[in-house]
Amino acid sequence: MRDIVLWPDPRLSTPCAPVGSEDVSHLVTEMFEVMYAAPGRGLAAPQIGVLKRIFVMDCGWKEGDMTPVVCIDPEILWSSEATGEMTEGCLSIPETPATVTRPLEIRLAFTTLAGTREEHHLTGFEARCAQHEYDHLEGRVIFDRLAPDLRAALETPYLKARA
Ligand code: NI
Repeated sequence: MRDIVLWPDPRLSTPCAPVGSEDVSHLVTEMFEVMYAAPGRGLAAPQIGVLKRIFVMDCGWKEGDMTPVVCIDPEILWSSEATGEMTEGCLSIPETPATVTRPLEIRLAFTTLAGTREEHHLTGFEARCAQHEYDHLEGRVIFDRLAPDLRAALETPYLKARA
């Protein structure tokens, strides 16, 4: 199983390349394997060192049934003006949850593993998770969403603990 890339690895700050029509089924299998083992609810390809625009998520499996979702070449078509705060964890920044402000709802387009392009209106935890994972594809992590003083308060001890 692939290792999870940890902050501040530069691969987590690098925008990812489009997947297009490439067959990524093997990569997707590896991503779910790593995500469920972590255990996490979302994982983006750069988190296992693959700089491609693809993320997987399963927002409900910890509470009930498995509902795996694969988003290839995702695009955020619309974001609500209404925003909210939520504390997010990231598998690439262990034990360092951060409170992040994001739009509460989004409209997300993506290609499925079967190759069809779909559009979904996401709310609640799904909208939150998709935006977090989408950020990874743009080379952004939760620290990049914080005001400088709040970022330093979390990142400085994180980096010190791993130095
Ligand atoms: Ni993350």
